[in-house]
Amino acid sequence: MSGIRPTGFLHLGNYFGALRNYVRMQDEYNCYFMVADLHSLTTHPDTKELKANVERVLSENIASGLDPDKVALYCQSHIRETTELYLYLNMMAYKGELEKTTTFKDKARQQPDNVNAGLLTYPVLQAADIILHKATLVPVGKDQEQHLEMARTFANRFNHRYGNVFPEPQAFNFGSELVKVPSLDGAGKMSKSENQYATIYLSDDDELIRKKVMKAKTDSGPTEPNTPKPDYITNIFGLMQLVSQPDVIRKFEEDYDQCRIRYGDMKKQLAEDMVTFITPIRRRADEIRNDGAYLKKVMEQGAEKASQSARATMAEVRQAIGLNYY
Ligand code: TRP
Repeated sequence: MSGIRPTGFLHLGNYFGALRNYVRMQDEYNCYFMVADLHSLTTHPDTKELKANVERVLSENIASGLDPDKVALYCQSHIRETTELYLYLNMMAYKGELEKTTTFKDKARQQPDNVNAGLLTYPVLQAADIILHKATLVPVGKDQEQHLEMARTFANRFNHRYGNVFPEPQAFNFGSELVKVPSLDGAGKMSKSENQYATIYLSDDDELIRKKVMKAKTDSGPTEPNTPKPDYITNIFGLMQLVSQPDVIRKFEEDYDQCRIRYGDMKKQLAEDMVTFITPIRRRADEIRNDGAYLKKVMEQGAEKASQSARATMAEVRQAIGLNYY
């Protein structure tokens, strides 16, 4: 089970960090992938663009290879059981532990005029999303580790108080290492909100991709063989690893080691490989986004699948709590 908030555009970091893992999981596991539209209300109370954002995230997920016939691909707000479980879990989430959450402290700092209770209980809602399906594997990035730890805490607390209902959810990633997608400005990784020019979005058109790649920071190249690479050059090689052919990468590695690398050529190559990689995803996502009838069908079908599992869990939950009076 995993969720993506419909805020901001999906970028290469989301693709390699999350979407690609989802796609690999879908053939081996029973998967629930959700657009976290309720979570987005904690930081984005203005809903003018919500529908368009939800549709875009769904389209980009499907265009990246997620198959709505194989997984439950649904919107959080369509599953009313989530909000009920959220309420029960709120009774066993302590104010102190919620206030200590890193994401809460960050967001409270970012929006001091809107430190709402939903922001405080964000990890409770996320725990409800996960344990509603008794999910055990949650493909998420490092930034979500604390939330998952809290989901385990709430699940265990529930079990302890009312009897064993929930398994413990664990962070999951395919393969051993989390892929890092470096940003184009040589600092940090690609992200939704920071430097837009250093991040490549799945919706960027060919010209924009080329422009962004060509602007990446380089220098005049090494002057001695086998010089260690500066961070911003490591980043460019790192991006090549994601989209370029092995022999192409090898050539530039050798050029670097022999001090004959031409970064202009390297970036041109990277830009073209990036375009080749992203264009089909963008085109497919555009097609899907413009097909309202198809998207509606996807959402209905996803809600149907997710509801089945949600209803079963909630019957157990009410029984365990003692809310079954007749
Ligand atoms: N909090 C997650 C994020 O910001 C999104 C999310 C919501 C999520 N519900 C979830 C992730 C359940 C995993 C499982 O990225």
